[in-house]
Parts: sequence; structure tokens; C-alpha cells
Amino acid sequence: MDHKHHSLAVKIICILLMSCLAAGCSKAAEQPEEPELILGFSQLGSESAWRIGNTRDIEDKAEKYGVSLMLENANQKQENQIAAIRRFIAYNVDVIAFSPIVEEGWDNVLTEAKNAGIPVILVDRDINTKDEDLTTCLIGADFYSEGVAAGEYLIRKADKLGMEHVNIVEITGTEDSTPMRQRQAGFMDTIRNDERMEIIESVNGDFLKSRGAECMRELLDKHGDDIDVLFSHNDEMTLGALPEIEAAGYEPGKDIMIISIDGGQEAIDVLKEGKINCVVECTPMLGSALMETALKLKSGEQVDRLIHPEEEVFSDEMDLSSIAPRGY
Ligand code: AHR
Repeated sequence: MDHKHHSLAVKIICILLMSCLAAGCSKAAEQPEEPELILGFSQLGSESAWRIGNTRDIEDKAEKYGVSLMLENANQKQENQIAAIRRFIAYNVDVIAFSPIVEEGWDNVLTEAKNAGIPVILVDRDINTKDEDLTTCLIGADFYSEGVAAGEYLIRKADKLGMEHVNIVEITGTEDSTPMRQRQAGFMDTIRNDERMEIIESVNGDFLKSRGAECMRELLDKHGDDIDVLFSHNDEMTLGALPEIEAAGYEPGKDIMIISIDGGQEAIDVLKEGKINCVVECTPMLGSALMETALKLKSGEQVDRLIHPEEEVFSDEMDLSSIAPRGY
């Protein structure tokens, strides 16, 4: 081979080698990386726009943080959540997270998780247990403060309107759940020393729109003209109650003051129409905090025991045009 042909052959071999290497590299890049973390999450159900927004946010943030998410929806049943947690333990996930539908009844399954060495994160709601070590932390709203904010709004409005006596009906969330217990406690503690305030009836609406409508119908049948205020523990039940109030011949937001909790887009739109007076925010956007905490636990770092997101109050006392799209 003469010199010219020899250097051409070398060039071709080099090009072939480089393209082989490049192909090899891109093959490696295509290989899915081992996920850093496998997170088992038991969602309690899909009872509200809030819950659906919360599930979506957790799915989105798992993808963003490169977390492999095993998501199970318990359809409003505690036994389904317990079974899901047992499956996560059997699968030996790195971290378990769940939103407990009620506060009681978790000790056995969480002891199994603890014995398996799997850390557990509470999302959104708390549990009632004597053994604090069964869970590592709680990421969720300060429901007690939400109840306080609702009560404070009512007192300000009663002052402004010169109300001498205030008859309140309350539609609460799921019996024995953290938001039900704490929102009620915060509200009661705030209005208790104001002699004008009277809760004439409190009924359970289970955080559902259909139950909100049923409850409101019953309350209107029983108390009709006497009702001054509806305090509803979530937007879903409020949105169920409003058509019932209108069907009974009252103007929500005027004849009956409406105070709600969550701050989903639909409720904010109705607040702007004047049919709701106040919405205390409860954000479902807990996904980033959950992923960051789970990653810390996986790498053995300490985490904060309690993580509360910042929340606002939206009401007819403010300029409502400044509220950004809610995303749930
Ligand atoms: O636990 C949070 C509550 O649960 C929200 O207020 C409600 O809408 C949801 O269903």
C-alpha cells in the first residue's frame, strides 16, 4: 500500500472507530438509569378537586425529581390503605408515604414498616398514635390555623355588618380526619368568646359535593330563615350546598354568608361572583416537599418533623382580580 492509500485507510478506521464509540455512548445514554428512589404512596381517594390536584402534583414532582412512584388510590377506604402499605413493604420500597383518611388505626401496619426498616412520611393528614417513631414527619397544611382564619374573618364581618347575633351552620369533613378535627377546633376556639356567635347545627358532609348538597337541604328544611352563616370545611361541599341555598330562595353570599376552605379554581370563580364570601387556602401542592424529604431519608439525612406550606385567605375584603390561576 502506498503512503496515500495507507493514510486513507487509517482515516476510515478512525471514522469507523469514532462512530462505533459514539453509537456505544448513545446506547448507554438510552439505557434507563436505576431510579435513585422507589417511593410507595397511598392516596386516600379522589373525593375533591383538591385531592385530584394533590395526586397530580405528586405524580408530576416524582417525574421531575427522578423518583420511581408506586401510587395506589384507596377509594376512601382505610382497609385499602393498610393493604397498599403492606404491598409496599413486601416490595421493599425505599420510602412509604400516605395520606391517612382518619387518624386512628395505623399502629399495626406502621409497626410492620418500622420492623422492615422502611421510613414512613405522612402527607396532608396526621395520625393518632402513642409511638411517634412510627413515622418520620408530616408534610401538610396547618388545619387548625385554617379554622382560626375562618373564625377571624367571621368576627371581622359581623363587626362590619353590625350583626347582633350570628347563627352558624357547619358542614364538616370526614369524621375523625385531621382536617375535620383541627378546622373545627380552630374555628370554635376563635369564636367561642364572642357572645354573638352560635353554632345552631353541625353536620358531617364527608368532604363530598353530593353530601354537601344533602346536608344543606336538611339544614335549610330545619332552620331556613334563621341561618346567617355557612361554615363549610371544603370547597367541594360548599359547591354542593350553593344550588340548594338558591333553590330554597336565598342568595348565597348575601342572605347567607358563605365561608369555605381549599381555594380551588371553581370556588375562587364563585367567590369573584359574590356567592362565596371567604375561602381559606389549603394548598394541595405538596409534591416537591415530599420528593425532597423522601430523597433525604434515602440518603440517611435528618428531616424536619413538621413541614407546613404557606397559605393565604381570599375574601370579599380584598382585590380579587390579583388571584393567580390556582392549578387545582
Ligand atoms: O385533607 C385535606 C382536605 O381533604 C381538603 O380540604 C379536602 O378538599 C380534601 O378532600
